[in-house]
Amino acid sequence: MPLIAPSLLAADFLKLGEECKMLDQSQADWFHLDVMDGQFVPNISYGPMVIEFMRKTSKKTFDVHLMINEPEKYAEAFKKAGADILSVHIEACHHLHRNIQQIKSLGMKAGVAINPHTPVQLLKDILQDIDVVCMMSVNPGFGGQSFIPHTLARITELKSMIREQGLNVLIEIDGGVTLENAAGIVAAGADVLVAGNTVFKSSDPADTISRLKSL
Ligand code: DX5
Ligand code: ZN
Repeated sequence: MPLIAPSLLAADFLKLGEECKMLDQSQADWFHLDVMDGQFVPNISYGPMVIEFMRKTSKKTFDVHLMINEPEKYAEAFKKAGADILSVHIEACHHLHRNIQQIKSLGMKAGVAINPHTPVQLLKDILQDIDVVCMMSVNPGFGGQSFIPHTLARITELKSMIREQGLNVLIEIDGGVTLENAAGIVAAGADVLVAGNTVFKSSDPADTISRLKSL
């Protein structure tokens, strides 16, 4: 059974409190929180201040996906805001190992996010130090895009790298996950499914979460 991490990027921000409470009462496992800086990605979302408010609505795991340059400048602020897992992009970090050490020393779980064009093999020497790989199945920056089919082969490749090293790193798939393609993504080896539009634009988000979970 996959873990389900709805992305609040697709939530109605005028009703953010209600959306968070709905997630809290649903079968969602994690809150997926997308932070964009208008530099690393061509969009701007929200930062630690908004996450701090959301934190008051639930004790579930807060999975913060940083799509920002120089994430080391903000790791502490996200810890203070309530992040449990902090993911940084491999493409945004000159000293990835140092970023991971910083995240762990602040008491968070560490994730590495990877863009669709970046070879999975580049994760080989960091897998032993991290908890999650957030594998992008769209180009980061926007919700509501279509799943890139080649991601399935990348999941299989990453899964065998993790197995070869005897590790328990979770594979999280982020972007374009739907009720139609989710089963195939899990069959390829995904452990965590992020879903934004599929959950929040459905007529019954809590039911959609249960259906994703039962795949
Ligand atoms: C994209 C974000 C995703 C996004 C997913 O840059 O990282 O988490 O919110 O949205 P959907 O599920 O709508 O593709
Ligand atoms: Zn994300």
